[in-house]
Amino acid sequence: MASLLSIDESLCTHCNQCAAVCPMALVRVGKRGPRTVPDAEQRCILCGHCIAACPIKALQHTSLPEEETLPLAENWRGDPEAVKQLIQGRRSIRRYEDKPVDRAILENVLDMARYAPSGMNAQPVQWLVVYETAEVKKLAIAVVDWLRSLAEKGELVGGKYNPAPLIAGWDAGVDTILRGAPHVLIAHGPKENPMAHDACVAALTTAKLAAASQGLGTCRAGFLHLAAICSPEAKQAIHLPDDCEMHGALMIGYSQETYHRIPPRKPLTVDWR
Ligand SMILES: Cc1cc2nc3c(=O)[nH]c(=O)nc-3n(C[C@H](O)[C@H](O)[C@H](O)COP(=O)(O)O)c2cc1C
Repeated sequence: MASLLSIDESLCTHCNQCAAVCPMALVRVGKRGPRTVPDAEQRCILCGHCIAACPIKALQHTSLPEEETLPLAENWRGDPEAVKQLIQGRRSIRRYEDKPVDRAILENVLDMARYAPSGMNAQPVQWLVVYETAEVKKLAIAVVDWLRSLAEKGELVGGKYNPAPLIAGWDAGVDTILRGAPHVLIAHGPKENPMAHDACVAALTTAKLAAASQGLGTCRAGFLHLAAICSPEAKQAIHLPDDCEMHGALMIGYSQETYHRIPPRKPLTVDWR
């Protein structure tokens, strides 16, 4: 028996589920139950599908903590209409209550985002929580400074948007950048991982829905992200570890906005083959 899996042979029914779900085809079920292939330890991506698919908990993965392998409720999919409403009812929020969110609630949102998919299950997503509202403001100022420098040179934001209305709004006392959000969540990942960007976007999207389910409002902070890419000063203000790259950010807080309808969207664009 390779050391990757430990099997309670008195329970295992040789149902083959562990082998069938392994994305790397590292498990084979023979007469004596599941066994891993010789190089399984090097190739296993630690996705945990094998132990999650075992219907009778006969299997442990020696590199995955048993106590974190939680039971899944029978009705885990929830009510389809409720899920649809959450997806369709989530809005980008641009006015926030002047009230902080408990760190435990933000942590709960980020904890749910840990379950977003990532290429080869690398789980490269790391977060910077800009919790202090004064620090959020400093970031917004860094972005506005960058926008002013673009305006002076007659350049557009991302080659597309006129910075003037954003600057004019800011100068008139409206936070056009981070929308007065009390907190900002910045998703980043190791520069060396080419799939970190997609993983961060998946985590950000998961965090948005998780936040909505917890009664919080969010909005992607696109100008902050662009500034982090284009302005050394803004990048310095965000100050991530040298080996990491920012892949997106979310404003987050209690919403001052309430919506009563689902706005229309473009029709589905799809080709079938
Ligand atoms: C990558 C990305 C960046 C965004 N950046 C901003 C931003 O900087 N400021 C803002 O107010 N909204 C931003 N948004 C929100 C979009 O404007 C919003 O998703 C869109 O208008 C649809 O509205 P909804 O999210 O309520 O469905 C961003 C959205 C995405 C996906």
